[in-house]
Amino acid sequence: MAKVKTTFLCQVCGYASPRWLGKCPECSAWNSFAEETQTDHKKLASFSLSDPILLPDIKADSHLRMLTGITELDRVLGGGIVPGAVMLIGGDPGIGKSTLVIQSLNNLALRYGKTLYVSGEESPGQIKLRAQRLGISSRDIVIFSETLIETIIKNALTLKPSILVIDSIQTVYTEDILSAPGSVGQVRESASKLMFFAKRQGIPVFIIGHVTKEGAIAGPRVLEHIVDTVLYFEGDSSHTYRILRTIKNRFGSTNEIGIFEMTEEGLREVENPSEILLSERPLEASGSAVVPTMRGTRPLLVEIQALVSPTPFGMPRRTTMGIDPNRTNILLAVLDKKGGMHFGAMDVFVNVAGGMKVPEPAADLGLVAALASSFKDIPLSRDAVFFGEVGLSGEVRAVSHAEARVKEASKVGFKRAFMPIGNRDRVKYTEGMELRGIKNIKEVIDAISD
Ligand code: TYD
Ligand code: MG
Repeated sequence: MAKVKTTFLCQVCGYASPRWLGKCPECSAWNSFAEETQTDHKKLASFSLSDPILLPDIKADSHLRMLTGITELDRVLGGGIVPGAVMLIGGDPGIGKSTLVIQSLNNLALRYGKTLYVSGEESPGQIKLRAQRLGISSRDIVIFSETLIETIIKNALTLKPSILVIDSIQTVYTEDILSAPGSVGQVRESASKLMFFAKRQGIPVFIIGHVTKEGAIAGPRVLEHIVDTVLYFEGDSSHTYRILRTIKNRFGSTNEIGIFEMTEEGLREVENPSEILLSERPLEASGSAVVPTMRGTRPLLVEIQALVSPTPFGMPRRTTMGIDPNRTNILLAVLDKKGGMHFGAMDVFVNVAGGMKVPEPAADLGLVAALASSFKDIPLSRDAVFFGEVGLSGEVRAVSHAEARVKEASKVGFKRAFMPIGNRDRVKYTEGMELRGIKNIKEVIDAISD
């Protein structure tokens, strides 16, 4: 009989301990340890991806990316699916993960032949119902209701599909471990078996993972290390828009996002996300500035809102959502010193509309404009956008992709761009756009009063 070993694993980060612990020394989570028993699996150690091979002799098939036919998904993946890649799609239950995957399988089956969709969550009947609703009836989508990973891999080896989907990783289990499906040990072991399968066979694998209440994929950190690409599908249930974000990508940028709309006929790609993000913008209100930011290779217009009001308490509050609080503090100090606006007795709230995050310094000028506008209580001109990095002496510095930003603003109907003077002359595209080159934030502050 196989030797049985008991360990306690942190269900948050996968830290292993021979004893039960109240607090994880690795990730500081409380009460996160669960007992997991595993049989001695020497088998695992004998896996190897390939024999040693000379670098020039390796066949490079990186250019052979498979296209899902869903442009937004392909972009987020870094330009399509790389053969043998293991991709994790995480998200809340009901957000549309299964829908997204089955829609892409339809296209993949058409182009690359048989695909295998393994579901441990829904019966074939339920899957069929969804497919009918989506108008999918490809003969090349094979549905398999199974949860034992060894059986799944055995079937996949005979079928040799162009892509394998596991929906979801929390429902599958391997015989090597005695703990319940969904536990960290099972998730990790199952995922690494899928990884070996993918790399050996050159077959890409989509793994769907649920997100826990705390907002993390169960066993998240252990999975993130194993897989090649981690995508999060998010959006709230009150809105029909869904955002697909890259968290990790071995084959592309992690800054990309894809925007979808959930309709009666499934997920639809949104072609002009900027318009949607700005559709509810108040036009005559102070403290709202539009900024063209870059998400990976794509410009996206977002609205930065600032609210400055006298503090009722001794300690002024600084609250930011979607923007780095330290960056906000720096810009407040610059506005104070170089712009003559004193925020010492003011509460400052900053928000990026639509729950977006703006992690780049190019948004500085937009934030400065929003803060100054709220401080003076004068709305910014409704057809203007703002971008540029602001330095500590109030100077506005050049940023990358200036032309793409201007173009996107013009596409959505904006007429003026306040931008770094260093970028101004290099932007060739001016169709109907007035480009105001800014040297110092004072020029923007002065422009607000006209
Ligand atoms: P689903 O893909 O099952 O979510 P997940 O796999 O992430 O749990 O999506 C389920 C939700 O999407 C459900 O609330 C119904 C909705 N939906 C639509 O609005 N339109 C559709 O065409 C489909 C298939 C689902
Ligand atoms: Mg599902």
